[in-house]
Amino acid sequence: MINDINTKIIPFYGGIKPDLFEIERRCMDRDGKVIQYLDSFLPNGIVIDIGAGNGYTAEKLVHENRIVIPMEPDEKMIDLSKDLAWSNGVAQSIPFHSNTFDAMYSTWAFFFDGITDIDEGLNEIERVVKNEGLIIIVDNYGNDEFCSFSPNDISNPVSKWVERGFKYEIIDTEFVFDTVEEAKKLLTFYFGEQGNKVNKTRLEYKVVVYTKVNKQV
Ligand SMILES: C[S@@+](CC[C@H](N)C(=O)[O-])C[C@H]1O[C@@H](n2cnc3c(N)ncnc32)[C@H](O)[C@@H]1O
Repeated sequence: MINDINTKIIPFYGGIKPDLFEIERRCMDRDGKVIQYLDSFLPNGIVIDIGAGNGYTAEKLVHENRIVIPMEPDEKMIDLSKDLAWSNGVAQSIPFHSNTFDAMYSTWAFFFDGITDIDEGLNEIERVVKNEGLIIIVDNYGNDEFCSFSPNDISNPVSKWVERGFKYEIIDTEFVFDTVEEAKKLLTFYFGEQGNKVNKTRLEYKVVVYTKVNKQV
């Protein structure tokens, strides 16, 4: 089972470069607009966070009527100092019974960055989320100042979600760094030499949120 999980993990830098991931999490969407969006749309009950990273988002969405289960496959990402009910697993094989969750969300995780076979994960989500439960996927929208530093297109075409019955909305937010040096550090890591061209601390950043109400067949 462990080996099976390992073959399905998409490599992510956060566990081996925690200092860079700390900058990413603190500076991207500094005003917390994505978290505010999730908080206002997610129901009470039991919610799963797929590819939860270090639990940054999950921690902020828990309240007395809402349990959030962060599911994360990379043990180096799991932050046990956070008071969360961690689960270890991958989107393609979610270690929960069918009809367990009132809703699900995923922020820049399995469905992120050009994954071609999103259906393996989506089928699992549709299985573990109750009928009429909400499914929310968050990703880069592209076409913004932040993405303009990338030598490649890092947006994910909305069409592949629309054709699967998702609605989408764009959240206009910002990367806000403490210093230009911090901005250069993260952007050169992401984008190579091009990232050195950044000369300010605030960068326009567009996030796309896909939503769908689960309909079990
Ligand atoms: C860009 S990080 C996002 C983390 C977190 N959602 C956040 O917003 O901070 C992507 C996360 O997806 C996890 N991941 C990798 N492969 C995965 C898979 N097959 N299923 C679910 N999550 C996966 C990575 O380990 C990493 O923690």
